[in-house]
Amino acid sequence: MLDTEKKIVKVASHVDIFLKNYLKKRTENTQLFNALKYGLFSGGKKFRSYLIVTSGKLFNLNYKQLIAIGAAVECMHSYSLIHDDLPSMDDDDFRRGKKSTHKVFGEATAILAGNSLLTLAFEILSSNNININAKSKINLINALASSAGHSGIAGGQYLDLKFEKMRVNKNLIIDMQNKKTGELISFCTESAAIMANKNSHRKLLKRIGLDIGLLFQITDDLLDLYGDKNKTGKPTRRDKQKGKATVIKSLGVNKTIEFCYELLDNITDKLENKYGSRANSLVDSVNFLLRRDH
Ligand code: IPE
Ligand code: IPE
Ligand code: MG
Ligand code: MG
Ligand code: MG
Repeated sequence: MLDTEKKIVKVASHVDIFLKNYLKKRTENTQLFNALKYGLFSGGKKFRSYLIVTSGKLFNLNYKQLIAIGAAVECMHSYSLIHDDLPSMDDDDFRRGKKSTHKVFGEATAILAGNSLLTLAFEILSSNNININAKSKINLINALASSAGHSGIAGGQYLDLKFEKMRVNKNLIIDMQNKKTGELISFCTESAAIMANKNSHRKLLKRIGLDIGLLFQITDDLLDLYGDKNKTGKPTRRDKQKGKATVIKSLGVNKTIEFCYELLDNITDKLENKYGSRANSLVDSVNFLLRRDH
């Protein structure tokens, strides 16, 4: 296992512990609650939480608070995956090495489990587990909300489906990917500035987060093309079948890989110029994206 991966696994276990404790007080004996837990605790990488932790190092933020924000983001992310796999969307039967939530619990329950996770994210963010001043907390909630709606995940997923089997230029593809994936990832970097009360850093960290998100989605698309489903835990070679609009489809593989390194250099320069060695682990986590196999 790569060194960075070990660190990600450790953060992931802390986020899981947080979520398990949080849900203990909210246990319900229903299939809806079981579906919610199935989608949430199905073993995702929790790369977004790791980004929150490494972004927190830019400002020396409290680890426990960062884990709580990670937990909220993982709820939001798991919601988006449950819905992404539905027959009306990507129609995928496997996720994280197991059957997709709707294959186990049925579509209606999967939709409701997704909705419940979406709101759970805000429940956690607004709870006492995040102990910052009220203004910063409202800023956090506001930023997460806008990353999820029509100009974020939902808007991006809408475009992703609309663009299937269409010829779409690179800029429109990037706009779609920024929305469906980049906005939530940029929340992970921007939230560090919000937590630190450093409003003047928000714009830069959001911009950097969008580029990290783009790199994340492009490497996900490369894994769809070249990856091993036993490692990714989800079906591969699906994007071509579905006619998904991807950067790979627009530029071809070689130019896409060049583009990834350009993004990486750009992100690294911006972070090192502004934060110097405090950005080391964040830069390392971005480098991991080009080496990952899942
Ligand atoms: C997959 O996200 C969905 C995309 C935005 C590409 P992840 O690769 O983070 O999925 P998990 O959480 O590790 O399963
Ligand atoms: C999904 O992108 C992005 C989301 C916001 C859920 P994909 O459809 O490529 O994600 P996977 O490959 O199914 O995980
Ligand atoms: Mg999709
Ligand atoms: Mg999908
Ligand atoms: Mg994919």
